[in-house]
Amino acid sequence: MRKKRFFCPEGQADKIIIYGGQPLQGKIAISGAKNAVLPIIVAALLSKETCLIQDVPRLADVEIICDVLSELGAKIKLDPNGSAHTVEINCRDLHNYEATYDYVKKMRASVLVMGPLLARLGKAKISMPGGCAIGTRPIDLHLKGFEALGVRITMEHGYILAEAPVLKGARIYLDYPSVGATENIMMAASLAQGTTIIENAAEEPEIVDLANFINSMGGKVVGTGTKVIKIEGVESLGATSHTVIPDRIEAGSFLVAGAIAGGDLFLENVIIDHLKPVVAKLREAGVEVTEEDLGLRVRSEGKFQALDLKTLPYPGFPTDMQAQFMSLLAIAQGTSIITETVFENRFMHAEELRRMGADIRIEGRSVVVEGTEKLTGAQVKASDLRAGAALVIAGLVAEGETIVSDIYHLDRGYDNFVTKLHSVGANIIRVKSRDRLRLVSEV
Ligand code: UD1
Repeated sequence: MRKKRFFCPEGQADKIIIYGGQPLQGKIAISGAKNAVLPIIVAALLSKETCLIQDVPRLADVEIICDVLSELGAKIKLDPNGSAHTVEINCRDLHNYEATYDYVKKMRASVLVMGPLLARLGKAKISMPGGCAIGTRPIDLHLKGFEALGVRITMEHGYILAEAPVLKGARIYLDYPSVGATENIMMAASLAQGTTIIENAAEEPEIVDLANFINSMGGKVVGTGTKVIKIEGVESLGATSHTVIPDRIEAGSFLVAGAIAGGDLFLENVIIDHLKPVVAKLREAGVEVTEEDLGLRVRSEGKFQALDLKTLPYPGFPTDMQAQFMSLLAIAQGTSIITETVFENRFMHAEELRRMGADIRIEGRSVVVEGTEKLTGAQVKASDLRAGAALVIAGLVAEGETIVSDIYHLDRGYDNFVTKLHSVGANIIRVKSRDRLRLVSEV
């Protein structure tokens, strides 16, 4: 039976309607990071004791990963004893080692359960992730890392079966600094015999947060945030309480929203260091971003310079901010070139932005954006999470009404996106399809 949903409105057919032209004024508190909380929830599988995770954002993806863990036998309480944004997890009795097609299809991050399951149960069965909206996204690096730890991998009927009676520490060089592979291997290695060294590891802040979580349970992980991570396996991991870092991509998205709409917006609960590549590009575009004691302020009059940017692994410019910058550069003065090196096929928002009047041309892995005077509201469709954010952001400055559909993508990764934008003056509303006519007249 389907469980009660705590976090997200069921809203496959919901839409967001925006009337552009309102500057943003006020304060927004940034939620816990999606890309940190997902692996952290998964890492609770490593312990037989209770883990309390705080500053958990209210996201559909959090619900999905909790469902995956529940299927494995985890006992999960969302918001226990009324403490909001908290998840309590106990994984003492795991009775299953399989992440089915239904879950992996919904969310690729489900494959992260492989590492902890191998560490706890010596086996894991995972549906092979197929292609997704932003490219093929294989998991070969995860599997190569596991093999180096002594895991035997076989594939049948669309499933990957991984088995290892004992995990043994090893030296692993990643051909590419994959975030997921680094996390998956790090989790498995935490309970392996001996020492594991991951070279050319991903350096993302979310990996540091995951290591802090594992270490708070008694793990021995050092070097995260650099290219070489050393993990000394321990016998077992214990109980912990951990607060998730703020979401740098949510913060970056609101910085671009504040810039494009104009006005004076303050973001609290941010780690400024994590936002350096994004802030540097905003400043290059002519946006005023100032660091204050408790956060970041963005002030803008809505005029921008064109620039070139290339997505790269951290600390380079994040691929998860590429779409939002495309909206901004669509109305900049001059020609910008955006190059996507992390994912193939991550320009689906370009076509939708063109429907709003943007002058954008795709050339292989680059996009040429000729800045135009203005965008005009249109009916557009979110093709993925960040594309959805980019379209809402474009709607903030577009002339007239923008209607964004398929917004369940936004629910996956933004905690109350519409409510937060509305609270700082955006003319924005979320409607159920059938409510559209009635609610539009209330905007
Ligand atoms: C994570 C983030 C995602 C972000 C991405 C890059 C989470 C839940 N998601 O995704 O928001 O956009 O990092 O910053 O944290 N690759 C391989 N083989 C592998 C693994 C990856 O070829 O075994 C390729 C992928 O196809 C992709 C690139 O490496 O082209 C980067 O992927 P990766 O860093 O693994 O991203 P994710 O962990 O999937």
